[in-house]
Amino acid sequence: MATETASAVINLDLPGAKISKHQYGHFAEHLGRCIYGGFWVGEDSEIPNERGIRLDVVEALKKLNIPNLRWPGGCFADEYHWQDGIGPRENRPKMVNSHWGNVVENNHFGTHEFMDLCELLGADAYIAGNVGSGTVQEMSQWVEYMTRDDDSPMVELRRKNGRDKAWKVPFWGVGNENWGCGGNMRVEQFADLARQYSTFCRDHGDNKLYRIAGGPNVDDFHWTETLMKSVGCVACNSMNVMSPYQAISLHYYTMTREWENKGKALTFTEDEYYRTMANSQHVDTLLTRHSTIMDHYDPCKTIGLVLDEWGTWWQVEEGTNPGFLYQQNTMRDALVASTHFDIFTRHAERLVMANIAQTVNVLQAMILTDPDTGALVLTPTYHVFEMNTAHHDALALDVSFRGQRERMEAADKRFNVVSASASVAEDGASSLLSLSNVHLDEARTIRIDLRGRDWTVGEARLLTSTEIADHNSPAHPEAVAPVAFDGFTVDGDALEVTLPAHSYVTIALDLA
Ligand code: AHR
Repeated sequence: MATETASAVINLDLPGAKISKHQYGHFAEHLGRCIYGGFWVGEDSEIPNERGIRLDVVEALKKLNIPNLRWPGGCFADEYHWQDGIGPRENRPKMVNSHWGNVVENNHFGTHEFMDLCELLGADAYIAGNVGSGTVQEMSQWVEYMTRDDDSPMVELRRKNGRDKAWKVPFWGVGNENWGCGGNMRVEQFADLARQYSTFCRDHGDNKLYRIAGGPNVDDFHWTETLMKSVGCVACNSMNVMSPYQAISLHYYTMTREWENKGKALTFTEDEYYRTMANSQHVDTLLTRHSTIMDHYDPCKTIGLVLDEWGTWWQVEEGTNPGFLYQQNTMRDALVASTHFDIFTRHAERLVMANIAQTVNVLQAMILTDPDTGALVLTPTYHVFEMNTAHHDALALDVSFRGQRERMEAADKRFNVVSASASVAEDGASSLLSLSNVHLDEARTIRIDLRGRDWTVGEARLLTSTEIADHNSPAHPEAVAPVAFDGFTVDGDALEVTLPAHSYVTIALDLA
């Protein structure tokens, strides 16, 4: 029997908060090859497509049960004017994408194409509206164009462009990074604008918008406090019900060091690896602190927190456009994702949504496509999302560790070596355990007492790699891919699991 290095208890009969499936949300910006070459190839492409949208990308994302897609930015959102992206494509005006490579954007992928993509994916739309350089009227008319169903001027315009029925748009972003690329505003100014713009994003018919105001960066707690003061209440009176927006966003990226020295995707030292793990788990501190401020003004948790940009941000791959943010993805990225999800589960009550940046060809992508051949590769991060689908809308279970937990220290932060989360399906018939060992070269054994229900082990899966920097490429598309896992024993009511070095394991339980 392997030496036990961690011990935990899970009460299978004590489910907690629902883990919104929207914590597994995605983000697609007009940035580099995310839209063009990633999702969109155009109807004349040799790459199999439906109305211009890549079918292989759609098929791959459907396996993740992709719950929502945020678009068109990012920084791009606050310089995007939606009316440039409707009507016959050949007539659409061009614009300069000044944030991302200073390239000319032809607006061939616009509102209709995006909603077509969402329908193919079965994903909810999350539109990011322009506060930085757009007008209130422009945003209000975009909502009307997409969600109204009568003969209003915007509805007539939509019909002229070929779409009769209103779309359903559940999520609406009011600004993005307005402390930076979205206008370099002070929060005092933005707090008022967020109230104003949100007011004119109307609910048309039965489409009920969930409005998400542009929130803080990383640890800008003053931003959170100012927004919450402007809509929250201390005693949970009716003021929250009147809030013009329903959530605020937060952005946090994991880097090896800091902005100026992000580190490389494929070449990193042991020290850089552990710094990444520490910086990744730092999201727990950030979510806790922002939530604490929100709890003060909104103890009833009526305002949601939406981490609508997260993930790793490395230096771009050599030879690629620095403005395109194209990076490879290794087992290290997979562990950043898996440990983020454990933390998200613990914050399920306040964290209503999270969106990894970004889905295809940009930053911590699920999918990389070859610019020359079009070949598609699934990244290690994709596999973590896929292995976790049973957590979508399931009920969180506490994983209580016994005694002192093993911690390491890097980048002035302490972090857990073994990370875990668990949930029980809404119908109570099954449970999923997610377990990560972030130790670079040593296995760890965890004994988990599973109490309260009878259980048997269902499917168990392992994601790991020989070298931490192993990654997938068109030549080796399955260098890092999940395999069946048998590194566990059942001992009465306990499960003893040996997690290989730098590995991620999921174990499904059938509950009696
Ligand atoms: O995801 C890339 C960029 O990161 C987004 O456009 C912006 O919001 C953030 O700074």
